[in-house]
Amino acid sequence: METEAPQEEVKLKRIRSLPSPEKPIQANHCLCLTSAEGKTILNPRYEILSTIYDQPASPSRVLLVKDTETDSLVILKQLLKCKILSQAQRVSAVREIEIHQSVSHLNIVTFYDSGETEEAYNMLLEYLPGYTYFTDKIEVNNKPFNLKSDGGVQKLKSFSYDVIQGLEYLHSHGIIHLDLKPGNLLLYTDVDENEYPLVKICDFGLSRRADATGYAIIEKKCGTDKYVPPEVTDGAMISVAADMWSLGLLLHNLAVGYTPHAMKWSPGKPIPFHNRHWRKYEGTGLKEFIEACLRLNPEERIASRDALLHPWLSFNQ
Ligand SMILES: Nc1ncnc2c1ncn2[C@@H]1O[C@H](COP(=O)(O)OP(=O)(O)OP(=O)(O)O)[C@@H](O)[C@H]1O
Ligand SMILES: [Mg+2]
Repeated sequence: METEAPQEEVKLKRIRSLPSPEKPIQANHCLCLTSAEGKTILNPRYEILSTIYDQPASPSRVLLVKDTETDSLVILKQLLKCKILSQAQRVSAVREIEIHQSVSHLNIVTFYDSGETEEAYNMLLEYLPGYTYFTDKIEVNNKPFNLKSDGGVQKLKSFSYDVIQGLEYLHSHGIIHLDLKPGNLLLYTDVDENEYPLVKICDFGLSRRADATGYAIIEKKCGTDKYVPPEVTDGAMISVAADMWSLGLLLHNLAVGYTPHAMKWSPGKPIPFHNRHWRKYEGTGLKEFIEACLRLNPEERIASRDALLHPWLSFNQ
């Protein structure tokens, strides 16, 4: 035990001591050009290499592209107009771009540029090679964090810290992400070997801006069933607390490999924490943190800014 502790502390100190979570946009990108015929077209500087994501039912298409000017990889996310069938979907596409391009934080996928062509609403984003890490872990392999083979509790703490820092930034800017789940968390792996990879939040497709009173109205229930908070219903008024609910379920899932629903839990009842799955987190504060996120009444849920001070995120234990 004595030999493991100092090594973990070194890694976590690096994350704790980052000078500022804000990160400036580095490259000068130019996603679209005007053709000789006066049409807006994609800049041929960006060479399409492969398709990362394309589902028949979704207007989103995610392509890996090479920026031939800087010889670096970037992402082209397209919202295809042929699959945008309603005015609500159009509003949502424009809102996704407006919100994502307004944010800049180390724990949020960097937005480089955007442009509307005949075919699509296009976004040029930072490429994160670890884009399947969380979905593979949870939805494909159903493999929670464990003590030895995968870095264990300290790694999960570091990942939690990243997500909560990203959320705190969004919430302090009045933005509700509204779709926090494994598929919308990507891993930035270009770090020193004594550092944990960074988690970055992507996909502002369902995000909303809260008004001055802290609420946004959603027309229809939306989100990914397993992670949707109870207050998210047709025509509901929602707040940043919605993300804290999804965070609670996400952490539960990452910690033990299932959400409380799998234990026949329904919101409002005490969450079952079975000792055999939670023993490794004893004394870390994770159980208590998850409970604070999963309060049925959104007003009673822990806020992201308080979450950063919770014992679960104290790195000295
Ligand atoms: N910047 C990125 N770097 C690497 N992979 C990415 C990036 N952005 C998205 N992806 C990959 O593409 C997938 C889909 O992207 P995203 O979540 O933004 O689309 P979406 O709008 O959710 O689509 P849908 O509405 O169909 O769920 C992600 O789960 C991830 O695997
Ligand atoms: Mg997504």
